[in-house]
Amino acid sequence: MAQISEWVRRYYRQFPTNGFILDLAGGTGRHARFLSQKGFKLLLVDNQISKAQDLQDVEGIKLVEYDLEAGISLPFSASSFKGIVVTNYLYRPIFPQLLCLLDVGGILIYETFAVGHEKYGRPTNPDYLLNSGELINLVSPEMRVIAYEERLITRPAKAYVQRIVAEKK
Ligand SMILES: C[S@@+](CC[C@H](N)C(=O)[O-])C[C@H]1O[C@@H](n2cnc3c(N)ncnc32)[C@H](O)[C@@H]1O
Repeated sequence: MAQISEWVRRYYRQFPTNGFILDLAGGTGRHARFLSQKGFKLLLVDNQISKAQDLQDVEGIKLVEYDLEAGISLPFSASSFKGIVVTNYLYRPIFPQLLCLLDVGGILIYETFAVGHEKYGRPTNPDYLLNSGELINLVSPEMRVIAYEERLITRPAKAYVQRIVAEKK
């Protein structure tokens, strides 16, 4: 099984245990599987949901195929999630809607590539690289920041990332 993010492993206990966690652009579902094993209920969204087909029959995980960049509203009501996890995915226009999906007290765990990552591999396109401090700005002022880092990580692969844990006010 794919290694999960150390950031997710360190902070997943911040998620409230009642209600659904959204795994946004969840890919093969490495975090959905991990969180499900920890007792959370998950909804994984991706535009290539076949990648997560191994999770199709896993109790407590729902899979939804959806293009997050189609320019239309996300197919969920406001405040419908107690937590959101996003790793290795960035589409800036979605942030306001994403934060609306969190219930008050809900937790966002986000980790993705930042400027400085180019020398370690893809992505190199600035559209997919956070500028210094950008993740904090993207969640402000709706969220209270619990933890934030901007640094080189070496596991599961060498990458220059920004990562945040924040609570909906
Ligand atoms: C680098 S992978 C990260 C997957 C997962 N979050 C992880 O860290 O293992 C990026 C994911 O974003 C998904 N994705 C890319 N564009 C998307 C879009 N427009 N709508 C929904 N998902 C998209 C891809 O299918 C892929 O699974």
